[in-house]
Amino acid sequence: MEMCVDMVNNVTSVQQKPPEAVVHKINQEKFWDALPPLWNSDIQETLNCVQVRAETHDVKSFIFATPDNRSFTFQPGQFITLELEINGEAINRCYTISSSPARPHTLSITVKRVPGGPVSNWLHDNLKAGDSVRVLGAAGEFTCATFQAAKYLFLSAGSGVTPLMSMTRAHYDLADDRDITFIHSARTPDDIIFERELALIASNQQHFRARFICERLGARRDWHGPTGMLSLPALVLMAPDFMEREIFVCGPAPYMKAVRTMLDQAGFDRQHYHEESFSFESLPDEVREEVQEAVTVAHAETVAETAASTPAIASIPYEPLATTVLLAADSFKVMFQKSAREIVCGAQQHVLEAARATGVRLASSCAQGMCGTCKVKLISGKVAMQHKGGIRQREIDQGMVLLCCSKPLTDLVVDK
Ligand code: FES
Repeated sequence: MEMCVDMVNNVTSVQQKPPEAVVHKINQEKFWDALPPLWNSDIQETLNCVQVRAETHDVKSFIFATPDNRSFTFQPGQFITLELEINGEAINRCYTISSSPARPHTLSITVKRVPGGPVSNWLHDNLKAGDSVRVLGAAGEFTCATFQAAKYLFLSAGSGVTPLMSMTRAHYDLADDRDITFIHSARTPDDIIFERELALIASNQQHFRARFICERLGARRDWHGPTGMLSLPALVLMAPDFMEREIFVCGPAPYMKAVRTMLDQAGFDRQHYHEESFSFESLPDEVREEVQEAVTVAHAETVAETAASTPAIASIPYEPLATTVLLAADSFKVMFQKSAREIVCGAQQHVLEAARATGVRLASSCAQGMCGTCKVKLISGKVAMQHKGGIRQREIDQGMVLLCCSKPLTDLVVDK
């Protein structure tokens, strides 16, 4: 800032220097010439938060970029795992990517505040532009990318909108005017996430329709859409040809159960039905709701009860420990080497479940072999592992296992 004194008029004026021009990516020479190299979380674990957007009163989108402007590659509907440290405790959570893979310079997740939830509240209250977070991914198989169909029906409730939003945005960005009907259920009109954007896409894509149904009116009085829960008559009204569509469903477990029942009543062929499939019964009460919220919107497609898991026998050349004595034909010892803890795990029990039962704390999220959060190195022993995409073959080849879906075949030593 410079001070100038006009001696004639004895006036002091302040001349502002023009602000330094910030060179954003958009202004960088050659930025638009080619896509930058791809981001790989195995090599680069940290992402920068570049923007936080409020979507509704209790939902925010967090937008990330890589520190060196790499581009993201993922399939719409996939998820990432955040590795956070909250109050000195390491916590992992999976969140679906809500952005479009056709806009590869940034990646976003959209998070709803869960009352009492440690992670969603921490993200809402603390994560801001300029912060860095450790991220793993992307992964998951809940994607329309591998289920080519002429017509889709997207059904979501609450923050289950996120994977379907990524799929919708991808179609829009690629100018793929596919016949898509998107029916989103919300508690009240004020809780509809991405309402305006979905309406905009519907106004620009001839064959895309966005429909909303709200449980109740709430504070807003200008709502003219349907109210109540999604029912078969409401579905017939909003998507009369739903029986001809490939259906993708994401939302809280009771919502998905209701949708399954509804479609079964209508005689819908389950081969064309895709949903998240998780069980959260084994989680502690205080985190069940949030993990369910997070992973329900997070990832992995399953064709209802007929889902085919990926079986794998993970084995490390097994040298019995000198002290190893099988306690019974149906149980084995599991040694957590770093923490020097030893537990007994039933042959029909998953190691994570046995560890929890004995108070051994291990990082986990979905408990279904999908998210990869419970991945550890098996130092010795053999397990039967039935995962659902949460681990890559090369990781299995390197001796990694997912403890949530691995049953011991021998005594085990785990690098944990
Ligand atoms: S907790 Fe998700 S793969 Fe094990």
